[in-house]
Amino acid sequence: MVEFAVASGGFLRDGRPHQVLSGALHHFRVRPQLWRHRLRMLRAMGLNCVETYVAWNLHEPVPGRVDFTGIADLSRFLAEAAEEGLDAIVRPGPYICAEWDNGGLPSWLTGRPGRRIRCHDADYLAAVDAWFDELIPVVAAHQATRGGNVIMVQVENEYGSYGSDKEYLRHLADGLRARGIDVPLFTSDGPEDFMLDGGTLPGVLATLNFGSDPEGAFAALRRFRPDDPLFCMEFWCGWFDHWGDEHVTRDPADAADVLRRIVRAGASVNVYMAHGGSNWGVWAGANRADGHLGALQPDVTSYDYDAPIDERGAPTEKFWLMRDVLTAHTGVEPPPVPPAAPLLPAGQVALTEALRLFGVLDVLSPEPVRAAMPPSFEELGLVHGLTLYRTELPGPRQAYPLTVDGLADRAHLFVDGALTAVLTETGNAAEVAVPGARATVDLLVESMGRTNYGPLTGERKGITGAVRHAQQFVHGFTAYPMDLRELPPLPWDAAPAGDAALPSGGPTFHRGRLDVTAPADTYFSVPGGTKGYLWINGHLLGRYWSAGPQRTLHVPWPLLRPGGNEVLVLDLDGAELSTVDLHTAPDLG
Ligand code: GLA
Repeated sequence: MVEFAVASGGFLRDGRPHQVLSGALHHFRVRPQLWRHRLRMLRAMGLNCVETYVAWNLHEPVPGRVDFTGIADLSRFLAEAAEEGLDAIVRPGPYICAEWDNGGLPSWLTGRPGRRIRCHDADYLAAVDAWFDELIPVVAAHQATRGGNVIMVQVENEYGSYGSDKEYLRHLADGLRARGIDVPLFTSDGPEDFMLDGGTLPGVLATLNFGSDPEGAFAALRRFRPDDPLFCMEFWCGWFDHWGDEHVTRDPADAADVLRRIVRAGASVNVYMAHGGSNWGVWAGANRADGHLGALQPDVTSYDYDAPIDERGAPTEKFWLMRDVLTAHTGVEPPPVPPAAPLLPAGQVALTEALRLFGVLDVLSPEPVRAAMPPSFEELGLVHGLTLYRTELPGPRQAYPLTVDGLADRAHLFVDGALTAVLTETGNAAEVAVPGARATVDLLVESMGRTNYGPLTGERKGITGAVRHAQQFVHGFTAYPMDLRELPPLPWDAAPAGDAALPSGGPTFHRGRLDVTAPADTYFSVPGGTKGYLWINGHLLGRYWSAGPQRTLHVPWPLLRPGGNEVLVLDLDGAELSTVDLHTAPDLG
């Protein structure tokens, strides 16, 4: 059993002074078959600890139905880390930020009227307590004090950037203790006075998050907590990308230099991210521009993060430089670097079949909901994906703006089957005329990921307001929710792409077959595709978008099988597609 303790100004591990050299690696962003390889990569970089968050919304998609399997098998991840000789830091939230949809909070919780979250609101705390009753015993069983490897557990996440509700933080800290956590607790915050003041708790270790100027940050912590050990809980050695923005990278030498200054100061560190992985499916979060209240900035599918270990687990220049820094500092030669998985050769998958979404609506959404006003995703019980809202406008009437109030986030507008406009949160109106007695209006609304940082965390998706024609409300909707993560079998011969009865320019599925002799890694691109989703063998890899910067999606080998593999694309704009291309290197922009 390892004894880990906080001493004045530092840590003791089995009674000896100890620097925690940790790397962030979120188990839910990596296929479970690859955990061991990635953990070995951390060791090979010279790290002695792994840090992971817990994403509540992944584990409890429906209230009371808790899942700890597959990428959500936290217990197995911690056990494998222990077997690989790594200590572990767990950050159980309930809020985690992390560029993860809704900052990890379940949308069934945040979609309730009032949206009182991250404070000592009784209903919110009751939901957190019920979740912690399930989660915390799993973490507690892996603590160093019980023969496991968990040495520290976080309270909330960067809370001082959001609030200063000490009753809330105290409730969480007491709840962790009451459920058996007896290793050191900590908070983590930015180095601003108001952040440290708002996010910390007496008796709970305070740690810092930053990307540069370690001297300034540690001086701020020293002023605030003269006796706490120095710990950079998130050393941002890279960064994440938003759709439509430039790909962000960080100079490896600069990142390695800051790491050197952190460890030389005697501080402990968690390299965020050591290995980023992927925002599978539709789990990518979003930011808000202009002081966290402005336009939605949805995150891309890759969470490569320009980290030292890249999205497919290979070492980068940053890896080798950081390894040198850590080796020079500790004087201990790390274990050898395990080889990365082989890659498939470059190639193409011919898309041989096509199917119009409008032709299979009843298969994709067998239980449509009728309502006077358009229900939000949360009211429909839809976590992610698409909803088609269908209504009718009476006529004849001249052209007026059709406005979607509270559109989150993007809608293809069809009038009598013809694609008329693509609406967005800010460009949420288009002129619509009704020449005859009535017109059918279809709004296919897509969620691009819930905001995970700032005051708008917990916002709802879909049509969260109302639809108006001129100033007049439109009433009477049929909503078809579509959860893209679990597609039903599609009837490929039911509605061929050429069917003239279906809307033109509409969303279309395409299918092809990838034959491999042995599973290996690859990168997919969709030439000509404008915006949509990509699946392999029924597993939703994530979104693609010609807005960039990301052009290729990583396909890790565990998602392939020897022989034929089904490749499926849904292009929302109905772009002409003929292939999905295979690449041997990523194109992240
Ligand atoms: C903050 C959060 C992390 C992550 C980083 C940016 O520090 O605590 O979860 O969002 O920002 O990558």
